[in-house]
Amino acid sequence: MRKKAILITGASGEIGQALISNLSQTGSLPLLSLDLHSLPQELMSRCTHIVGDVLDHNLLARLVTEYEFEAIYHLAALLSTRSEYSPELAHQVNVDGTMALLQVAAEQSQRRGKPVTFIFPSSIAAYGMPNLVVKARDARVKEWQWNNPTTMYGCNKLYCEQLGIYYSKHYQQLSATRPTMLDFRSLRFPGLISAYTTPSGGTTDYGPEMLHAAAQGKPYACFVREDTVLPFMAMTDAVNALLKLAAAPAGSLSHAIYNVTSFSLSAADFRDQVLRAFPDAQITFEPDVQRQGIVDSWPAELDDSAARYDWGWEPEYGLQRAFDEYLVPNIRRRYS
Ligand code: SER
Repeated sequence: MRKKAILITGASGEIGQALISNLSQTGSLPLLSLDLHSLPQELMSRCTHIVGDVLDHNLLARLVTEYEFEAIYHLAALLSTRSEYSPELAHQVNVDGTMALLQVAAEQSQRRGKPVTFIFPSSIAAYGMPNLVVKARDARVKEWQWNNPTTMYGCNKLYCEQLGIYYSKHYQQLSATRPTMLDFRSLRFPGLISAYTTPSGGTTDYGPEMLHAAAQGKPYACFVREDTVLPFMAMTDAVNALLKLAAAPAGSLSHAIYNVTSFSLSAADFRDQVLRAFPDAQITFEPDVQRQGIVDSWPAELDDSAARYDWGWEPEYGLQRAFDEYLVPNIRRRYS
């Protein structure tokens, strides 16, 4: 008899750690976590953790014989900057890894005659604006606009969204009997900022890096221009969005892919927020031309009205509450 569980891949990453903290307190099923790296000690007792690779087909085959997954949160990915340095590896992890997990979910949905819920974090990187004039003109993008990513990571995310829709709607479409298909749901996240972890390999990292450096009394040279505007969200809201989307009745969802966002601000505004909390912070701007090019192609705001309408999405933390009530107090505590 297979054990029922929720599978979280990329569990040691920023979203993974926050999701395990939340789900281990609020969820009713055991958590199975998978990552190339071990988990921080304080999370180890909250789940069964496997150190392994999403590209290891033998490992996935073994997990399928032992567990019945009610839901899969497939978080494992190489982020955008890292992916530009190793595009072929990024494609393997981000696309082949997602394909492998979709196949696990497809097979399990079929075997048990009930859809496995497959939750996939996508990204603002799925968008690609051609220049800053268009970015300023079409500031608030809808899901179907400007799907022209300029990064390997963005291409991978956009394609995997489509793969997920394929597996949930069209898989085995020529066979006489249609199998029970998986239930694919995806969020396009803005830059995420956690009070407890720092990102690595992303291009929205300047926000969290600036804040965590200031809290540690370290100088920080921001790698984008002061006037760069991007949307951001507190990590706690990101996890709530994933859980809320996973729990939404299937009939209420008019899309498989939803934008979610909280606040947009320029890098200079971000610095000013950091200075309000840490007045001695030493923050300079030393734009990196290549990384600047990536953020310039990403929208300044996301239109998340579909998520608000269909499943009642609303961030708990807007700009001021995110800094004053979630980020600054917890970051102070972390480094004190
Ligand atoms: N935070 C991601 C990155 O910068 C975008 O989703 O790569």
